[in-house]
Amino acid sequence: MKKWCLALLCIVQSALCMGTEVKSPNGHVVLNFSVDTFGRPTYSMNFKGKAVVKPSHLGLELAKDKHASKGLEETDLMTGFTIREETTCEKDETWEPVWGETKTIRNHYVEYVAVLRQQTEQREMIIRFRVYDEGIGLRYEFPQQKELNYFLIKEEHTEFAMTGDHTAWWLPGDYDTQEQETQQTKLSEIRGRMKDAVNWGNSSVAVFSPTGVQTALQMKSQDGLYINIHEAACTDYATMHLELVDAQTKALTTKLDGSSNIYTPNPAGCVAALPQPFTFVSHLTPDATGLKGAMQTPCQTPWRTVMVSDDARDMLSSNLILNLNEPCALDDVSWIHPTKYCGVWWEMIVGKSNWHYTDDFPSIKLDQIDWTKVKPHGRHAANNEKVKRYIDFAAKNGLDEVLVEGWNVGWEDWANMWKRDVFDFVTPYPDFDIKMLNDYAHSKGVKLLMHHETSSSTQNYERHMEQAFQLMNKYGYDAVKTGYVGDIIPRGDHHYSQSMNNHYLYVVKEAAKHHIMVNAHEATRPTGLCRTYPNLVGNESARGTEYEAFGGSRPDHTCILPFTRLQGGPMDYTPGIFVTKLKEWSDNTSWARITIAGSLALYLTMYSPLQMAADLPEHYERFDDAFQFIRDVACDWDDSKYLEAEPADYITVARKAKGTDNWFVGGKCDENGHTAVVKLDFLDKGRQYDCTIYADAPNAHYETNPQAYTITKKTVKAGQTLKIKEAPGGGFAISLMAK
Ligand code: NOJ
Ligand code: CA
Repeated sequence: MKKWCLALLCIVQSALCMGTEVKSPNGHVVLNFSVDTFGRPTYSMNFKGKAVVKPSHLGLELAKDKHASKGLEETDLMTGFTIREETTCEKDETWEPVWGETKTIRNHYVEYVAVLRQQTEQREMIIRFRVYDEGIGLRYEFPQQKELNYFLIKEEHTEFAMTGDHTAWWLPGDYDTQEQETQQTKLSEIRGRMKDAVNWGNSSVAVFSPTGVQTALQMKSQDGLYINIHEAACTDYATMHLELVDAQTKALTTKLDGSSNIYTPNPAGCVAALPQPFTFVSHLTPDATGLKGAMQTPCQTPWRTVMVSDDARDMLSSNLILNLNEPCALDDVSWIHPTKYCGVWWEMIVGKSNWHYTDDFPSIKLDQIDWTKVKPHGRHAANNEKVKRYIDFAAKNGLDEVLVEGWNVGWEDWANMWKRDVFDFVTPYPDFDIKMLNDYAHSKGVKLLMHHETSSSTQNYERHMEQAFQLMNKYGYDAVKTGYVGDIIPRGDHHYSQSMNNHYLYVVKEAAKHHIMVNAHEATRPTGLCRTYPNLVGNESARGTEYEAFGGSRPDHTCILPFTRLQGGPMDYTPGIFVTKLKEWSDNTSWARITIAGSLALYLTMYSPLQMAADLPEHYERFDDAFQFIRDVACDWDDSKYLEAEPADYITVARKAKGTDNWFVGGKCDENGHTAVVKLDFLDKGRQYDCTIYADAPNAHYETNPQAYTITKKTVKAGQTLKIKEAPGGGFAISLMAK
């Protein structure tokens, strides 16, 4: 009885305290901030008068900290705060990305800063909000101060209280992988679905909770609001997951393995311990010690973002996450360029050839093998003759670079061995003549694209990196695809921890010194850092095309990714599969669930400055008229207009190629098909355009007839409307060349 009274008191007193209201520039988004009776920072958010985030608490729980003057006590930055100072200001600026979906980006927001004082601990914490027309960002800042210099984070407890049982597109929360299929359920169904969702294979998996999910989390409310939770500018901090507090959550929740979780949202003196149902609470990725962060003031957390709109297209066109990142940190960006590439890659993924060179040894030690004396097994893909063929193919088709994987020694026992000295990144196999091949490529106007699979042995990579980048400079490589397959070495660490996030950024910064662009696979999900470091031209960090060969992905997968994974930055999805079933795939589940026209659409709907033509050259030669679109399509844009969008159903986008008057349009749909209505009102008035439409044939179907397409040419002008039927699992692509 007493407990209930206290809980009620909490609610009533919170309600009484009206807090500070901050409106976005057009007034659609309204933030409310206050400190409740327990001194808990509390915020809520509305959109066009509808609640989006109900009152939610903010704060961090600290671990025992030998540097704190109070000794080895666990303390928190959750309760006992008063507002010492508040400021509000408006900012409106426009900046030009080095590459991107549009030529310029407007950054227009109202900023509200609350300086908070924790009286008993004598500590200060700042919470900074930026309120945009399409959402908010908030972060914690910790000024340097006597009582807060070094601290360890046990957990961050940022709450996002949702207003109801929204539909959500989610991945199981995992400290090491984000390559799962997306689940679509109501929030109340997450717990029930989790066991199925985690039942899949990957070389490094660490699921932490029956209701933990990853960001960017896309949701849709019953009254038609699209809501997205993610983060921006994650540097020197662990990647955030979200723990859903649902009807079954106890004060101590239970992990999948039955052990208890550390969720303790129970500030001293307040018995309203658990947030209300449908509340997400931040859950950071731990490092090998189990802790979530080691901080030194002055410092800050990444931005926590909540995007909202009643139009799904706004989720895709928003620049909120880029805008919350710092401006470009590089003085000279002239060497950074959008890139179309092919690669000695898919043939290994599908099992036609191999990365490794010999079957002679059960295991290898790099410094003990004379590679000129070993017996090749004959299926090594990265050989001189084959790489030259790919270079010829790239040169003939206007592709800028050729990725070659398996060029360097060490692939004989590269994965999942917890082997520290796995690669040296500088020694080619005997049949890969690095000088000759680079010279040959350059003579044809093509570059080779470097590959550094680290096998997650991060210290090994950091030790060899300088030499590896020097080798790239010597032979004229200007881009590297890195990879982090398997559990992290040093053992016990996780792919998304603070220490690993520091590693990924260290690689990007060191690469920049060598004028090298980076495309990191299996690294943490992007949070817009490509604004600050535009040589970070790509990340995988989700389920890419390779999974078509590892059991396949659902046809709606690429209609979800732009709402989720792509929020933080471009994905090296490696699109362009034309031959969707191969004799090498005998497992019945591995085949690409897409039509050829759908594959073309991905070059528009999956925005990236780095685009691969992933299929085999001989497959493209069979469908050369469709391949013309891949030859023509740009990968850098002056403008982009999202014409139609609904998560997991369809996306249609028109983009204007950089520095030209030409437009390209792409539409991709799920397994149900879609009829796109493309109003050509984005074209220049009075001008004519040569229009080529690559569409699914009437009888096309991703499963039974994926290679049935039509190519139609006509002249069009602004004001006309094109109606294009997309087959189940299909799509379309249009080029509009200004006359
Ligand atoms: C996984 C990457 O996603 C894939 O593209 C690459 O070929 C392999 N690792 C080997 O590095
Ligand atoms: Ca991968």
